[in-house]
Formats: sequence, structure tokens, C-alpha cells
Amino acid sequence: MADAPSLADKATLIIDGRGHDYTVRTGTVGPRVVDIRKLYADTDVFTYDPGFTSTASCQSKITYIDGDQGILLHRGYPIDQLAEKSSFMEVSYLLLHGELPSSAELDTFSNTITRHTMLHEQLATFYRGFRRDAHPMAVMCGVVGALSAFYHDSTDITDPEQRMIASHRLIAKMPTIAAMAYKYTLGQPFMYPDNSLSYTGNFLRMTFGVPAERYEVDPVIESAMDKIFILHADHEQNASTSTVRLAGSSGANPFACIAAGIACLWGPAHGGANEAALNMLREIGRPERIPEYIARAKDKNDPFRLMGFGHRVYKNFDPRAKVLSKAATEVLDKLGIVDPVLDTARELEQIALKDDYFVEKKLYPNVDFYSGVILSAIGFPTSMFTALFALARTVGWVAQWNEMISDPDQKIGRPRQLYVGAAQRDYVPVNQR
Ligand code: CMC
Repeated sequence: MADAPSLADKATLIIDGRGHDYTVRTGTVGPRVVDIRKLYADTDVFTYDPGFTSTASCQSKITYIDGDQGILLHRGYPIDQLAEKSSFMEVSYLLLHGELPSSAELDTFSNTITRHTMLHEQLATFYRGFRRDAHPMAVMCGVVGALSAFYHDSTDITDPEQRMIASHRLIAKMPTIAAMAYKYTLGQPFMYPDNSLSYTGNFLRMTFGVPAERYEVDPVIESAMDKIFILHADHEQNASTSTVRLAGSSGANPFACIAAGIACLWGPAHGGANEAALNMLREIGRPERIPEYIARAKDKNDPFRLMGFGHRVYKNFDPRAKVLSKAATEVLDKLGIVDPVLDTARELEQIALKDDYFVEKKLYPNVDFYSGVILSAIGFPTSMFTALFALARTVGWVAQWNEMISDPDQKIGRPRQLYVGAAQRDYVPVNQR
């Protein structure tokens, strides 16, 4: 029998003079949570928390963030160690299965993913329905949602094997889908995957190769790209992951759920910030103009924000930004690229970090601040940045979706509200209004 909760495990809420006790649960690390699932039944009262700033929407074993310390762990492993020593395939296995793979497990996993990289040929026709100037994220939302119309044998969410096949398909096909979205905007032929290449090398070839020429994968670019994928692989219960979980909580198929996640990621406050950050750095153009933009970011009457700065959870350096800041210099040096945008970014960071406004509000560079500089050096247009984020985050989304489906506490997500509209009133015919 479980021990009775001690005082420290209990929270008492007094409503209308009556106390109601709730269990306080403790995780491995991080803030404790008050389990208020019975609150409404007990008291007829809801909690109000728009933006979920004080709400744990689920329990999870996948990713942990300590925003004050600037720590990000995947299955317990620090992100900087994974970025330095691991590969995106290995991190994908880790996120999905909970442990680092043995060498044989990694080979089998990589092989399985490689065997799923091709798309149903009919999907190429689907692309042709889009305008050539469509944003890659618009194409990705549509094509990923459409996968459920093509892969009927992996949409039964009650079957763990079908769930795993759908997960493998999504991780494997996302590079093909993103590369095809890019090729389509250029009017170039789609490139079929080449199974002799790594996950990341294959994506680079499908994006930058053409059928008329042999494409040599540059190891510097391959390694930088793989690191970027690792850094974006998962991030706890962020907006798009919560969207995937909420969509999945109704029993929707995994392709539809991931399409919903892509739609959410697109917003400029979330994944769309990497595109916005580089556009902003280019607009600033030279260090002399930085004070003007800092002043705008601080002006309450100006909607402008420093893109790539600030985070809901990190109130210290985003550990991913630290890795990317170093990688930006390394990649540009190795590729022999001199980009004044990197100088502008470094200067802007220094000025902002000393400015009272940013210090007081604890606004630090986030993952999107330096990623764009690297992606641009590799040759991607800004419109592809968020599509790359979606590609990498797919593994996090499917890991979280699988975890949610297997969780015995899982229920359809159904928030309530504080209703402030009109009270009940009688309909008035139009000629009497
Ligand atoms: N520039 C200027 N002021 C800012 C910024 C910024 N980038 N970010 C936050 N603030 C201010 C904001 O005006 C507010 O001030 P006040 O308290 O006086 O009203 C205060 O800081 C708190 O901001 P908030 O919007 O209430 O905080 P939030 O936790 O709801 O928002 C955020 C977090 C990431 C949406 C926000 O910092 C932001 O819009 N940043 C720029 C966009 C960005 O870089 N997004 C990428 C996030 S990391 C990758 C990802 O999640 O996809």
C-alpha cells in the first residue's frame, strides 16, 4: 500500500472557507506539481492559466529543461554532449526508445529509416498543385497531412507496431518532403533518395544536387547540418509538441498530428523565429544601426522584438544557442565565408546582454539567433529555415506522441474557460432589433 502523503506532499486550497487537499507530486528533477485533477469535481472551480505558464500538461520521461540554469537534457544526456559526440540518428533512437543504442541497434535503426526515405510516387503529383512561390512550410503542412491518405497500413494508433512504422516513416520521409518543397520552388527536378548516404548527407544531396551531376557531400556541411538537427530534435512541451499531443489525444492518426505540429511551429514566436532572426540581422545590416533596433525592441509602442532573443523557459543562455554560436564561427571559417551578418549578430548580442532592459527581463539569445547564419552559409534561403526545424523536430514530436498514447493517464485534451460573454438571453427577431 502507498504511504499516506506527508504534509510536504500535500497542498491545501481554501475555497469559500473550506480546505481541499491535493497531492503534490515530485519528479526526478524540476518543480513539483500539484495534482488538481479532482479540483473541479470537488469544488466547482477551474484554474486559469492561459499560456500554461504554471501548468504541467502531462508527465514525460523524454526531455528536461532547467530554464534558470540553461540546462537541456534528452533522456538525461546534456544537449552539448549530444551535439558534440553523437549523431542525429543516434539521438533519434535515444528519444524514441529511451536509451542510447548499441552499435547493432544503431545500424538496424539507421537501416530501417533509410529504407523508408522514398515517397509514394503519387505524392509528386500532389506537389504540382501548389504555386511555385508557396512557402515551404505551407507545402510541408499539406504534404505531411496527406501522408495519411497514402500509408493506410500505419494509421491504427491502437497497434504499437503500426505506431512505430508511422514514426519511422515520418522521420525518414521528412527530409525527402522538405527537399522536394525546395526543389519545387526552384522548378528543378525532384531528387530520389540515395540509400548509400547518411540521413543528413542524403538530405543535402536531395536539396542541393541535380540529376545531371554527381553530388559530393561536403563533410563540414554534413557535420554542421547534423548538429543543427540534433539541437532541434526535441524541446519538452513547447507549443508545437503540445499541439501534436493535443491533436493526438483525440485519436487522430500520426500524420495528421505531425501536420498540426508543423502548422504551429510555423509561427514567428516559435519555429518561424529563425527566418525572422536572419531577416532582422540582414535588415540591421551593419553594427552602427544596432542601437536603433535595440531602442525599437524596448519601445512599448513598437511591436518590434529582437528575434532570436528571449524564451518562455530559459531565463539564462539557451544551451543550444551556446553550441550554435561556436559552430557559426567554425563553419564559416571552414567554408571560407566572411559574412558581415555574423559580426552584426555578435555585436547585437554583446550590446543586448549589457542593456538593463534585456538584463532585467532575462532575455538571452535562443536557438534561432545563430542557426540562420549557419544555414545561410550552407546555402539555404531563409524560407527553408523553419522547414529544417520541422524536419528535425519530427523525431521529438513522434517520441512525445508515442509516449502520450502509451500513458495510462492519457485523456482527450479538453481545456475549460472563464466565460465572460453575454449571459443567457432571448432571441429578438430582426425587425424588432
Ligand atoms: N525583444 C524585446 N522584448 C522582449 C523579447 C524580445 N525578443 N522577448 C520578450 N520581451 C519582453 C516582452 O515585451 C515582455 O515585456 P513586458 O513584461 O514589459 O511586457 C517580457 O519581455 C516578457 O515577454 P513575454 O512575451 O511575456 O514572454 P513569453 O515567455 O510569453 O515569450 C517568446 C517568449 C520566445 C515568445 C518571446 O521572448 C519572443 O517573442 N521572442 C522573440 C521570438 C523568438 O526568438 N522566438 C523563438 C523562441 S526559441 C525557439 C522556439 O521555441 O521555436
